[in-house]
Amino acid sequence: MTTNRAYRVAVIGGDGIGPEVTEAALSVVAAAGVAVEPTAFDLGAARYLRDGFVLDNETLEVLRGFDAILLGAIGPAIGDRRVPAGVLERGLLLRLRFGLDLYVNYRPFHGVAGSLAAGRDFAIVRENTEGPYAGEGGVLRHGTMHEVATQGSVNTRFGVDRCVRYAFERAMALEQPKVTLVHKTNVLTFAGDLWSRVVADVGASFPSVAVDYNHVDAACIYLVEDPGRYGVIVTDNLFGDILSDLAGAVTGGIGYAASANLNPARTGASLFEPVHGAAHDIAGTGVANPLAAISSAALMLEHLGEADAARRIASAVADFERDQISAGTSAITQRLIERL
Ligand code: IPM
Ligand code: MN
Repeated sequence: MTTNRAYRVAVIGGDGIGPEVTEAALSVVAAAGVAVEPTAFDLGAARYLRDGFVLDNETLEVLRGFDAILLGAIGPAIGDRRVPAGVLERGLLLRLRFGLDLYVNYRPFHGVAGSLAAGRDFAIVRENTEGPYAGEGGVLRHGTMHEVATQGSVNTRFGVDRCVRYAFERAMALEQPKVTLVHKTNVLTFAGDLWSRVVADVGASFPSVAVDYNHVDAACIYLVEDPGRYGVIVTDNLFGDILSDLAGAVTGGIGYAASANLNPARTGASLFEPVHGAAHDIAGTGVANPLAAISSAALMLEHLGEADAARRIASAVADFERDQISAGTSAITQRLIERL
């Protein structure tokens, strides 16, 4: 379906290969017949190094008003100490996630041919505004032998409930609907108990969805040895972060992994980004794999209601031959466009 109105999309190309893969993604969106009016935002490590700007309230509010935000990658080159750890992560990425209330991080995985999870599809629904990422805690007596550092995990009934609800809704679209809670309920008993009860309560409204539970350490084994057991994994912010890198690795590499930072309540723009980083070492060489960014753009189209275009892009990516990945960014993009 093609609409008349162009979607207003904020584009944060960011650093390293970010701008290249974002540009590729936008050209695929256009080829799929969806009109987008992009507005570029210069944010990320390069911007920070130039003038110290990370993100302010005014820019956040402007971003909130877009139909969607497409992000490439944020971060300095590895070993560049001029950008202290956390400045961009907390100041930009997490500020966007928290400030725009992007409470679900949806990461679908499709095992490409030759990968450990070949032919398997599953998704991770990661809580995206709480957990150990919330910033609870602090430091006492910094730099002394008596230093104390705490970093608590925040889990609210409200936050867990809305995330779990999204996971069940997603699972309903599966041929065999299944939600697996991944946690560490045997050790993190307070948070684990809350998550378990919410999954049981919400699950009661979805009788056709099978419900399972795995400890997070065991889930690491199952993701490698038996990924086919999963439909939708629902988990907290930190477990979801770690598991999605593992899931990326077993499904063919992080170069394929897409993500949607969603505000399902639609009180502001949602943000779409590949899971991979800025890969400064290959920036500008034309060899970056744009498929994760392209898949992220497909998730954006799905969120915008362009289901048909989203499906066509997703299936073209799923069918893309692994041995063609070395062809380079523009050749991959062109081949993909030809197959739309
Ligand atoms: C991710 C990233 C981020 C996270 C970092 C860059 C803050 O690893 O999106 O998975 O930890 O969520
Ligand atoms: Mn991560």
